[in-house]
Amino acid sequence: MASYLEITDDEKGHELSLFCVPKHYEEDLDRVIIPHGLIMDRTERLARDIMRDMGGHHIVALCVLKGGYKFFADLLDYIKLLNQNSDKSVPLTVDFIRLKSYSNDQSTNKVKVIGGDELSALTGKNVLIVEDIVETGRTMQTLLSLLTECNPKMVKVASLLVKRTPRSSGYKPDYIGFEVPDKFLVGYALDYNEYFRDLSHICVLSEQAKEKYKV
Ligand code: IMP
Ligand code: MG
Repeated sequence: MASYLEITDDEKGHELSLFCVPKHYEEDLDRVIIPHGLIMDRTERLARDIMRDMGGHHIVALCVLKGGYKFFADLLDYIKLLNQNSDKSVPLTVDFIRLKSYSNDQSTNKVKVIGGDELSALTGKNVLIVEDIVETGRTMQTLLSLLTECNPKMVKVASLLVKRTPRSSGYKPDYIGFEVPDKFLVGYALDYNEYFRDLSHICVLSEQAKEKYKV
């Protein structure tokens, strides 16, 4: 079982005015729930755990855009540091995909992979999928079943966040940064209708902001 840093339901977070938050978002956020520095510290440790398990063979790191891009970039920086400062190292290549989910029928959640190289490039490789947040887990489970068709040597999933929610299918990633309450979170590339990716800390979106940025 993956270990993670638990942010409990009664965690109050931190007052916005104690941190640097873009002026244009000051009215839209309730509290800072995970400051940027804590994200970085936890990510550094995940990099070490990943290299321990996957560092024996060529790793293909697969970024799930757009929400995963910050975590992906920072995680890979830490993995690169480990690679360049140890006597043992493995090649690390990258790829970027987007997932389009069709959930007209709730029971059969289909996911379409957009962009990226041919999935056959993953055959025989150690594949690390990097995602921002797992909620029900259905997106990731569908992607995993697609990827296993290309016969990778190993597939692991790293998700910065996992939401504690009754909607969960029970799926858990192999590497988890934080387990978070069932609230809508933004920042560090997580968005609400494309806004808030340009915010360093992970924050709780206010109810009035949900209305303001509704499409
Ligand atoms: P699921 O695990 O298939 O339910 O889907 C997870 C996806 O929903 C993530 O990749 C996000 O794009 C999105 N998502 C879920 N919860 C949040 C949130 O709190 N903030 C931003 N995006 C979220
Ligand atoms: Mg995502």
